[in-house]
Amino acid sequence: MRAVDIIQKKREGQSLTTEEIRSFIRGCVEGEIPDYQVSAWLMAVCINGMDSRETADLTMAMVNSGETVDLSGVKGVKVDKHSTGGVGDTTTLIAAPLVAACGVPVAKMSGRGLGFTGGTLDKLESIPGFRVSLSMEEFLQAVQSVGLAVIGQNRNLVPADQLLYALRDVTGTVESIPLIASSIMSKKIAAGTDAIVLDVKTGSGAFMQSVEDSFALAEEMVEIGIRAGRKTTAVVTDMDQPLGMAVGNALEVREAVEVLQGRQKGPLREVSLYLAATMLMTANGCDTLKDGRRMAEQALVSGRGLARLGDMIRRQHGDAGVLEDFSRLPGTNRILPIKAEKEGCITSVDTREIGRCALLLGAGRSRKGDRIDPGVGLVLHRRIGDRIRPGDLLAEFYVNREEGLQEAVENFRKAIRIGTDKPTPRPLALGSVTASGVDHTPVYAE
Ligand code: URA
Ligand code: CA
Repeated sequence: MRAVDIIQKKREGQSLTTEEIRSFIRGCVEGEIPDYQVSAWLMAVCINGMDSRETADLTMAMVNSGETVDLSGVKGVKVDKHSTGGVGDTTTLIAAPLVAACGVPVAKMSGRGLGFTGGTLDKLESIPGFRVSLSMEEFLQAVQSVGLAVIGQNRNLVPADQLLYALRDVTGTVESIPLIASSIMSKKIAAGTDAIVLDVKTGSGAFMQSVEDSFALAEEMVEIGIRAGRKTTAVVTDMDQPLGMAVGNALEVREAVEVLQGRQKGPLREVSLYLAATMLMTANGCDTLKDGRRMAEQALVSGRGLARLGDMIRRQHGDAGVLEDFSRLPGTNRILPIKAEKEGCITSVDTREIGRCALLLGAGRSRKGDRIDPGVGLVLHRRIGDRIRPGDLLAEFYVNREEGLQEAVENFRKAIRIGTDKPTPRPLALGSVTASGVDHTPVYAE
């Protein structure tokens, strides 16, 4: 089978056979197909798409390009949760311990932040001593004994994705539903859990900006999961403004702890409880979403979720003292208040730009491998719909350096749009996709 024939077939918009897809991916990984042919093929897929069967075949070919994790030694229905990436999205640090506290084991492999989005690994690493690279043996033991572990993606998993993603990044072929769905799902399937919950973000701070595209991606990923024999649910949640008030690694850990301590209410708590309920439901830990929500809230209010987070931190060699004393987390030299200059109502927020402000302060990476400053970032004091007057506190910037600061302040002011009329509130979640179909029931803030 010649690579050029497979490329031409996809260029003409035809479906590729299972064998053609397998052979192409094998050729990529073994280095027999050069980058220019892989790139041409990616562009053909990006333009002409793939049907669900082709997308599932591509995903399984990618899974089979490397090692997979065997979690069968751990008792119970293991669940993993993945977010397509957002700003101030600290739900993993809240939902995962709640689910573990309800008796469902959480085995999670996470990524690092890139560009305007944050990554769970970077947030956890802001906890002194915390280790995200455990051996497979240690990972399994941690899931078994604590019911919860979060580690970095093993380099031997899905080498095909590492190769394809690097080419997509530089050939304008990232924005393709079959390519995104197969990239995400190959890693989740290889990571070995029985149940998978996908949080597809939608809005100005998300990869998918329209609700329609978000549901299309959600449906495609659920279909792949089901074809692979995994219990899979996708939810579509709002990212039209940062989910929590904090953006920055240690600041987000602090906020997640405050939610688990019962000291913070609001969208981050609500969405975390919704995700926890969805994880419990998908892993057969409850009968209805309502029951799941009640169980998760009970775990939060009783402090069992917080205790479980402490167990995980200790087990992964971190300082669990941070849960009682935030001064043990990395901090900054200075906190700069940003005050409103105009009177009006916050009508919208450019969420990507807020993420980029934190990046300018040093909280994120522009390129893979950049060093981050775990202490810096920003804490918002106002949300969409709030009325403001000159002098009101909009945000606090936690800073350690002057470089990038002025630009971050200017961009922040532009990102917070002030008008006259209060906008209609958007739901926190827009619905879900399961094996039984699409449910457009929205979830609103309480
Ligand atoms: N995240 C991934 O892991 N892959 C994509 O293609 C897009 C987002
Ligand atoms: Ca479909």
